[in-house]
Amino acid sequence: MIDVARVRRETPGCDNVIHFNNAGAALQPQPVLDAVLGHLRLEAEIGGYEAAERAETALEGVYGSLARLINAAPDEIALVENATRAWDMAFYSLKLGPGDRILTASAEYASNVIAFLQIARRTGAEITVVPNDEAGAISVEALERLIDGRVKLIAVTHVPTNGGLVNPAAAIGRVAARHGIPFLLDACQSVGQMPVDVAEIQCDMLSATGRKFLRGPRGTGFLWVRRSLIERLEPPFLDLHAARWTGAESYEIRKDARRFENWESYVAGRLGLGAAVEYAMATGLDAIWARVKALAEHLRRSLAEVRGVAVRDLGRERCGIVTFTAEGVSAAALSESLAAEKINVKTSSIFSTRYDMSARGLDLLLRASVHYYNTEDEIARFCAAVCKRLMAR
Ligand SMILES: Cc1ncc(COP(=O)(O)O)c(C=O)c1O
Repeated sequence: MIDVARVRRETPGCDNVIHFNNAGAALQPQPVLDAVLGHLRLEAEIGGYEAAERAETALEGVYGSLARLINAAPDEIALVENATRAWDMAFYSLKLGPGDRILTASAEYASNVIAFLQIARRTGAEITVVPNDEAGAISVEALERLIDGRVKLIAVTHVPTNGGLVNPAAAIGRVAARHGIPFLLDACQSVGQMPVDVAEIQCDMLSATGRKFLRGPRGTGFLWVRRSLIERLEPPFLDLHAARWTGAESYEIRKDARRFENWESYVAGRLGLGAAVEYAMATGLDAIWARVKALAEHLRRSLAEVRGVAVRDLGRERCGIVTFTAEGVSAAALSESLAAEKINVKTSSIFSTRYDMSARGLDLLLRASVHYYNTEDEIARFCAAVCKRLMAR
């Protein structure tokens, strides 16, 4: 059980706003703030390089914390600027050629699909979108049927940016493992709100961000790559951190996952990310997941009772992201009205998830994403505010 009063006391932002934009960037807890501000202060006092040297043990510890979070090893982790860069470093390391196929799902994130399209144009590789099951998740049976010798990558988003759907990552992993096909999981929206275990999922590469459900600082993210794959992946760009300049015409790429990093980094942010991961693990991922799911279902039920509201989430198992449309009021206008009442939400447009949104005839949704520090009382106030805005239309 989570001590909600305590986690709210430890979250300064709870005093100011109803924050239902956790899928955008969650409110940071005090230990994250302390880690970031403490290091920024040290940099100002003694110098940036000198502060990093002093924080060396803590910085190394961030790899260990992330490894424990996802049941991996520290040398399989790369710390990067965000989830997109993490995902890109894995994807652009793969060697795809004419006729090679990428299997993906309809909820895939725009940046990933843009990268598929770029590589398809460059190399003649092909993209296949696996059909959904009747609940709206990727159909694992259809995925299995599509496997043949040409499939060189399965790349799927675990939780999409635009809804409560949770794709069946472990079932996909079983198919990928059985056929020996690399499986790249975009876990940007899942890490931090639910237990994510790479051994159980059997993915080969996983990307995630710091600022969303992990509650870390902006400008942080990480990539995990299975150890047996690391040395087979040549990063799309290298620097003097990812590789060593060994002779006038030679260099050696690092053997660990830090080959996907580059030298300069947001050191305070990394320390904040480490603090966020430790905070999440101390709170307990199972407890976080149970509360997030319960709050989100409560929110869906309450919204469904508001006349004119249509909840749009897909999937049998649903997470903390709740999306809906309201008759007669655009998602943008509703979001503005809520902001005036210090309620944070976000809109999600077709430009982020075109395959899915166009299939459903949607172009803009309102996204209210809850975390474990939110409360039933906030949900009631949120629904009252939505109701009030709809009555005024
Ligand atoms: C599913 C998914 N993947 C990737 C990203 C990109 O994450 P970042 O902004 O940290 O690069 C997002 C961001 O919203 C996302 O929702």
